[in-house]
Amino acid sequence: MEDLALPSLASTFGTPCHVYSHAALHANLRAFQTALAAHPAGADSLVCYAVKANSNLAILNLFARMGAGFDIVSGGELARVLAAGGDANKVVFSGVGKSGAEIHAALMAGILCFNVESAAELERIDEIAAALGKRAPVSLRVNPDVDPGVHPYIATGLKRAKFGIPIDAALALYEHAARLPHIAVRGVDCHIGSQILDPAPFGEALERLIVLIDTLGKGGIRVEQIDLGGGLGIAYRQDEVEPEISACLAPLLDRLRGRKLKIILEPGRRLVGQAGLLLTRVEYLKPGERNFAVVDAAMNDLLRPALYGAWHEIVAVEQKKTPTTRYDVVGPICESGDFIGQERELAIAAGDLLAVLSTGAYGMAMSSNYNTRPRAAEIMVEGKQAHVIRQREKTADLYALEHLLPAASISSIRPEIDK
Ligand code: LLP
Repeated sequence: MEDLALPSLASTFGTPCHVYSHAALHANLRAFQTALAAHPAGADSLVCYAVKANSNLAILNLFARMGAGFDIVSGGELARVLAAGGDANKVVFSGVGKSGAEIHAALMAGILCFNVESAAELERIDEIAAALGKRAPVSLRVNPDVDPGVHPYIATGLKRAKFGIPIDAALALYEHAARLPHIAVRGVDCHIGSQILDPAPFGEALERLIVLIDTLGKGGIRVEQIDLGGGLGIAYRQDEVEPEISACLAPLLDRLRGRKLKIILEPGRRLVGQAGLLLTRVEYLKPGERNFAVVDAAMNDLLRPALYGAWHEIVAVEQKKTPTTRYDVVGPICESGDFIGQERELAIAAGDLLAVLSTGAYGMAMSSNYNTRPRAAEIMVEGKQAHVIRQREKTADLYALEHLLPAASISSIRPEIDK
């Protein structure tokens, strides 16, 4: 990882451990920013990092320093962005279930835009803005009914998804929004899905948005920004091809040329996914009908394989010449779904270090304390330096917010059952 050896990181910080490359994070964000800036249509543009992919403060802080905005989906993410030095007026707020308190906090912070996902949410934002004497900037998140061709759990732009406003209902809701006194219509937004490797659906969604923008214009509703969401995928497998960022953006930007729209993108995975790996050590080899390599990382550290059947490359950090064996790489959690990878050819022994690749996005962010397992440490490597950006959790922290029952309650435990 940059100038540091993974075995020394593992011995210094322990395993399991999420490790990120500062240089890769930096390069990924710059690639989006320069591709936009290099195109005439992208002169006014903003890359809003989708915080949900990896919300560590150090990563948010790096991106904020580089001029990024942020796509948030909760009040918690807003608080993180502000704590990391992010600029509230570069924040867009997506999500189908924004609470009153979250809307209030976002209005007080002065965010750039709410991406509104329903008529009821629009009413709620208008009411809260009225109570605060403010006008809330909004885009409607329209659901363009485009198939992104990805796992159903991460496809969001199809009609049957819970996300967005059906595109055929958008016009009427825009007309309504334009009449609400505490709403300022700013733009149009969509997000069709995640881990998209074939960029064609982005073009299809854009076509539908342009039709909508033109129809709105004819009715006197002028929008000033277009948000195309996130979703650009990464190559998890060696045989997958990662579409180049500028090549994906070029046809979209060409289509927007001459329209004087501020362009917003919400990439998550593509900024952080390949910048991170998960270090884990083999605890036991358990041969049998299936050979298991039991490692110290588990589904609580990396949920993607268990939840989506997702594939992450697993490599032995110190390559050996010994013959390989086919292993299921599994964690210590009491679930048969707790695997990191299945049927992997590895030459390994107990105590060996493995690197699970491409875990920077939706790795730590989806981690949990299931089986009372402390969350792993997070380390950002910058050249020869290793920064601890999140300490390993301590076991006692995991139950620090819990309380025993009062003594009186214990003595009166249901005597009829105890008899
Ligand atoms: N904008 C919105 C409104 C989103 O819902 C998402 C992701 C993004 C942007 C960023 O998408 P990205 O560029 O990262 O694809 N846990 C899943 C992915 C869930 C994505 C949810 N929404 C996984 O591990 O594959």
